[in-house]
Amino acid sequence: MSDDQQLRRSKEQQTADISEAQIAVHWPEEDYFSPSATFIAQANLTDTSVFERFSLDRSPDCFREFADLLDWYQRWEKTLDTSNPPFWRWFVGGKLNACFNCVDRHLAKHKNKTAIHFVPEPEHETVQHITYQELFVRVNEFAALLRDFCGLKAGDRVTLHMPMVAELPITMLACARLGVIHSQVFSGFSGKACADRVVDSESRVLITMDAYYRAGKLLDHKEKADIAAAESAKDAHKVDKVLIWQRHPGKYSSPTKLVEGRDVIVNDLLRKYRGKRVEPAHMPAEAPLFLMYTSGTTGKPKGCQHSIGGYLAYVTWTSKYIQDIHPEDVYWCMADIGWITGHSYIVYGPLALGASSVVYEGVPTHPDAGRPWRIAEDLDVNIFHTSPTAIRALRRDGPDEPAKYNYRFKHMTTVGEPIEPAVWKWYHKMVGKGEAVIVDTWWQTENGGFLCSTVPAIHKMKPGSAGPGIPGIHPVIYDDEGKELPAGSGKAGNICIRNPWPGGFQTIWKDPDRFVAQYYARYCKDRKSKDWRDWPYMAGDGAVQAADGYYRILGRIDDVINVAGHRLGTKELESAALLVDEVAEAAVVPAADEIKGKVPDLYVSLKPGLQASKEIANRISAAIVSEIGAIARPRQVIIVPDMPKTRSGKIMRRVLAAISNHQNPGDVSTLANPEIVDKIKELVK
Ligand code: PRX
Repeated sequence: MSDDQQLRRSKEQQTADISEAQIAVHWPEEDYFSPSATFIAQANLTDTSVFERFSLDRSPDCFREFADLLDWYQRWEKTLDTSNPPFWRWFVGGKLNACFNCVDRHLAKHKNKTAIHFVPEPEHETVQHITYQELFVRVNEFAALLRDFCGLKAGDRVTLHMPMVAELPITMLACARLGVIHSQVFSGFSGKACADRVVDSESRVLITMDAYYRAGKLLDHKEKADIAAAESAKDAHKVDKVLIWQRHPGKYSSPTKLVEGRDVIVNDLLRKYRGKRVEPAHMPAEAPLFLMYTSGTTGKPKGCQHSIGGYLAYVTWTSKYIQDIHPEDVYWCMADIGWITGHSYIVYGPLALGASSVVYEGVPTHPDAGRPWRIAEDLDVNIFHTSPTAIRALRRDGPDEPAKYNYRFKHMTTVGEPIEPAVWKWYHKMVGKGEAVIVDTWWQTENGGFLCSTVPAIHKMKPGSAGPGIPGIHPVIYDDEGKELPAGSGKAGNICIRNPWPGGFQTIWKDPDRFVAQYYARYCKDRKSKDWRDWPYMAGDGAVQAADGYYRILGRIDDVINVAGHRLGTKELESAALLVDEVAEAAVVPAADEIKGKVPDLYVSLKPGLQASKEIANRISAAIVSEIGAIARPRQVIIVPDMPKTRSGKIMRRVLAAISNHQNPGDVSTLANPEIVDKIKELVK
């Protein structure tokens, strides 16, 4: 069967089957691909004894090896404190600074090396190569500004709403230098979504940029800061200062006016801090480094709190051994720093290793699908990291483009969603030119870094499967009754991790009860136990484990939709739709999409006596974009006469999902209103 036939077949199966579990289980098991001898010869990790070193009975002490990759002001006394499960504390007693580890410690040997290659979206604009020395200077000056002008100190929270520019890692590292907790909000999120995060984290300072380029346009971004401040004020929370970086230094690129006494142009103010140096704060390992908000089962996004010591140790080790980053590598992760992938694998991991990390501002296919390969050729990128959504788009728009450019990747990553074997094979053959090794890495915002992946020079690759747990991570699949499903059972269940690991988030900001309830309560063996073995972490994904030990991730078991590799809570979309006056009920379901994997379809019913109209549907769509951002825009808004409901009045989302995906909704005779199903089918046709 050709790759295309296979892709079509897997798509057909997606529309023929009912559950996500079945979809993936029915992907045929693929043959293995082996890493090349050239890759193995240079790899950081080839010694198979690593699995013994990181066996379950050596946990948690084995993770000392992770922390040893960092420089500490004071060494830790205890590797893991389990006295208050499941609030694990790593490297207790240790003191360090994340910024020092990512910047200062490289100066002695590598000060003239590029730390960040900033590639603007407009192709005629010059690429910036920021050396470690320059990064040091810029981070120090900005840290001085944050401390002396904003009065920020260790433990304060600051919200960043910044696009993909070099100033974003500079801002993060300046916060880290002071021990200030940053909370970066994806720039594509709306001002309102930003406000929710400002209020929850109680940030008094919001850092943004006037504008940025996206798909050929210079977008006004500062207007979102005004909305964020205004919306925060409605929640009785005042934003004292808005710091605005200029996309084109020396020129203000937004039509929005500056608010007197609140707004400050960073580029102007920085002149006052020229030459200033700030001693990195000696932070406890357990102090928070940042918050990263993500969607969950309830309406409100939750702030995942990540620690300095455990998190940094984890992303550094995994960058070195799973990403195979050497100091001389040029590494490009095409994610957005507004998501966890960018935090861990554009900023903290690669910079802690002293690598050169590429920050690309724009859309991968702009102005054409050859763009990433030109960037790779020009910068001599040799490690590449992206999502299945981007790979699918590049494959659709320019299947033969990679061959036209003279670059060579030794290593490539895929992350964020399941990748169809046919797409994987194109990635391998065309983008990787048949030489690059691929890791399919499974993990989540909550986890800090990779959980499942092949070790690139040790394991063979299997298209469509993530791989086993990485060294030190011991996954297990439980069925609904808590019984372990062994490898090769062919049955899907809930994937959990048996042991704590240093990259795991510490808690949900201001909501420790939810932290316990959502991730630990279901499979906890004894709520009174202080033994970590009794507290498996539940990821919220369905998975199957093949006989070879490789895991295949099937998708979320909760109300989260993974759109283009980004998490959206269906409840968030539904509450945004309900803000439109006419709407009585709203239900969001995932629909399969060629490029984005999944997209949201929104079903609404109107209040009694109201007529459906295109105008109402448009307003509902606009409400979602303004509440959350363009990323959440529904594929279609379907106004239905009534929702399919159980006799107890529950909306049957499963039936709606089947209709959206042109599947058979199964037996609907037990519904309170079975006749509605055909009417809705007609509407969707
Ligand atoms: O469903 C899994 C899916 O993405 C979810 C996590 O999303 P987020 O927190 O935004 O982090 C994305 C980047 C780490 C998971 O619960 N997911 C992530 N990686 C994979 C995946 N699904 C299949 N294969 C993967 N490699």
